[in-house]
Amino acid sequence: MAKVLVAYGSKRGATAEIAEAIAAVLREPGHTVDCAEAGTVGALDGYDAVVLGSAVYMRRWRGDARHFLRKHRHALEELPLWIFSSGPVGDPAKDNDAWTEPRHTMRKAEQLGAREHVVFGGRVPAEPHGRIEQSMVENTPEQWRDRRDWDAISAWARGIAAQLPTAGARPAAA
Ligand SMILES: Cc1cc2nc3c(=O)[nH]c(=O)nc-3n(C[C@H](O)[C@H](O)[C@H](O)COP(=O)(O)O)c2cc1C
Repeated sequence: MAKVLVAYGSKRGATAEIAEAIAAVLREPGHTVDCAEAGTVGALDGYDAVVLGSAVYMRRWRGDARHFLRKHRHALEELPLWIFSSGPVGDPAKDNDAWTEPRHTMRKAEQLGAREHVVFGGRVPAEPHGRIEQSMVENTPEQWRDRRDWDAISAWARGIAAQLPTAGARPAAA
């Protein structure tokens, strides 16, 4: 079985919950999974694969997740890597790709050999802090305040699990 790191950048907890859900699915077949804030990860020694995700704020990933990509770039080049962003809230018909996935960061992830990068709907904070968050909540219709699709998240994680070794060998290179 593989040892997997699920690392995330999250300001208000929605992305952390997505990361935990991914970790839980990866544990089901028996993989060993650490789920941690990106900024707290020291080294990638001992991991067979990495999943990295971040909330998107003003078209950018959180700083700790961006820093993770830079800091661990040499190790990540050698490891299977999967990427997710958590962002869009509000009416899905109004989603704008330019705002949901930071292009520059995705380019870097691709250069490191990321197998996939996906976007999951996000959640506006349940208890907004400050005027910006408050107005964002007020301007987001209630049914679109939490767009995290747990079925889609689990399905994506199952796809990752299927690519990890079930016994012995490390995962095949991309
Ligand atoms: C001030 C603010 C700016 C945001 N900017 C973006 C954005 O540029 N693109 C996007 O897809 N989502 C944006 N969002 C939505 C957040 O990414 C979404 O709420 C996310 O799930 C928050 O994750 P977290 O709780 O882990 O911090 C923004 C939210 C706030 C409050």
